[in-house]
Amino acid sequence: VSVLSVVSELFPLIKTGGLADVAGSLPLFLKPEGIKITSLIPGYTKVLAKLPSAEAIHHFDDLFGGPARLLRTEVGGLDILVIDAPHLYDRPGTPYTNEEKEDWPDNPIRFAALSAVGAAIGLGEVAAFKPEIVHAHDWQAGLTPAYLHYRAAGRPRPPAVMTVHNLAFQGQYAPELLDRLGLPAEAMGVDGIEYYGGIGFLKAGLQFADRITTVSPKYAEEISTLQGGMGLGGLVRDRIGDVLGILNGIDENVWDPSTDNLIAAKFDRLHIKPRRINKLSLQRRVGLREDADVLLFGLVSRLTWQKGIDMVLDALPLILGTGAQVAIIGQGDRATERAVRDAVTAYPGRVGCVIGYDEELGHLMQAGADALLLPSRFEPCGLTQLYALRYGCIPVVARVGGLSDTVIDANEMARAEGIGTGVQFHPPTVEMLESAALRVASLWRKPALWRRIQRNGMRTDVSWRRSARLYAELYRELAEAGPNEIE
Ligand code: ADP
Ligand code: GLC
Repeated sequence: VSVLSVVSELFPLIKTGGLADVAGSLPLFLKPEGIKITSLIPGYTKVLAKLPSAEAIHHFDDLFGGPARLLRTEVGGLDILVIDAPHLYDRPGTPYTNEEKEDWPDNPIRFAALSAVGAAIGLGEVAAFKPEIVHAHDWQAGLTPAYLHYRAAGRPRPPAVMTVHNLAFQGQYAPELLDRLGLPAEAMGVDGIEYYGGIGFLKAGLQFADRITTVSPKYAEEISTLQGGMGLGGLVRDRIGDVLGILNGIDENVWDPSTDNLIAAKFDRLHIKPRRINKLSLQRRVGLREDADVLLFGLVSRLTWQKGIDMVLDALPLILGTGAQVAIIGQGDRATERAVRDAVTAYPGRVGCVIGYDEELGHLMQAGADALLLPSRFEPCGLTQLYALRYGCIPVVARVGGLSDTVIDANEMARAEGIGTGVQFHPPTVEMLESAALRVASLWRKPALWRRIQRNGMRTDVSWRRSARLYAELYRELAEAGPNEIE
């Protein structure tokens, strides 16, 4: 079965978060299942710089205001199509924001272009490649199923899958854009792409995709409620028969402490000792007092409201009161970045940070911190707790979304049965985070128990194996149904 994956980021070419990791690893693990995924991504400056020799397979005379080329390349076993459209993607900053951290004003056009090219390929307009299924990820690709619907014009329309990695980002724009997006007036209705009077990219995807998936089973439950649905709960509920929660896995080759070249000392489940070396190295890198015996809480994350960083800062007096240290690596909201820096100034040597995006430090964090703090207010899946499990770093998580599906709380019964892998708390509040931190501190004082929880985590199967099979089943089912056949 051949699938076109339409996505705005892809590791190792371009990454701002977990979406890139998933888009860049799932195809590798679907290959053995007989599923061939080709990924379509925008040709951001940083992407093209890494692909000097990509071959052009198609030309667009006018892609939303300028000419464009479709490039084909292969990177690390991934088949990739890149949209080379300088008027849309050749600029500094991140895929979504300028250097002042403001969204690019033409983001709706930039990602409509991604979606429109995805749909064009799906409809067979690119001679070199015709997929059986089109799979769109998040709001940036949300218009893909809508373009497939409105532009099919009698041609066979391939089945479309829409995956929600994060419902908080919806791509909501002014209704006046309709024309520029090249969508018909009739699209502007509740059964179309209309959403609260405007144009909803993610809404469009949820409306027109044949199947909807979320990145964990728990998140599928949460977003079909009024409270967790962030305005789209009703629509998700209406379509609940087509919604499937499939847990993310990780690329165990990229995230393997026994072979990881980005960390200071390699280790595995039977030889955990070298973690100390990583811990000292991490403490040095983030400006903490070097001490392998002190409990070190780590955090590597986007610094935003979703991730509950403010709660960690509020809980600092109590956390540090246990004698622990806190290391933070992240970037995000200006205000949160400033608050983190202020905490470092207030508690020198005991709170350390690196503000910025640093893939290598992301690995060192997992290898060196003793426990990873994840007080997310919501978390569609979360990957860092999976990396933590694999690296013997004990995850301390709010029991929401994918965090609830992946960490087994080391409560009394779990300990008796020898299956605990971390610490969960609920609801995500400062007080419950504080209680969890106290629990972690008391576990830290029992080294044998700590080691057991670490080993349980390192033994956990966080690979793509199970989930790749679920995606493969979904694709096969849709491919068998064929074009236009899905209701
Ligand atoms: P989200 O996609 O919501 O940001 P995930 O847990 O799914 O959260 O994925 C985050 C990914 O980004 C992980 O691979 C994590 O290691 C990485 N990451 C986040 N912030 C940073 C940072 N400042 N430096 C390095 N890696 C980071
Ligand atoms: C989103 C979510 C995160 C998830 C990632 C990959 O960025 O915030 O929870 O792990 O997508 O699916």
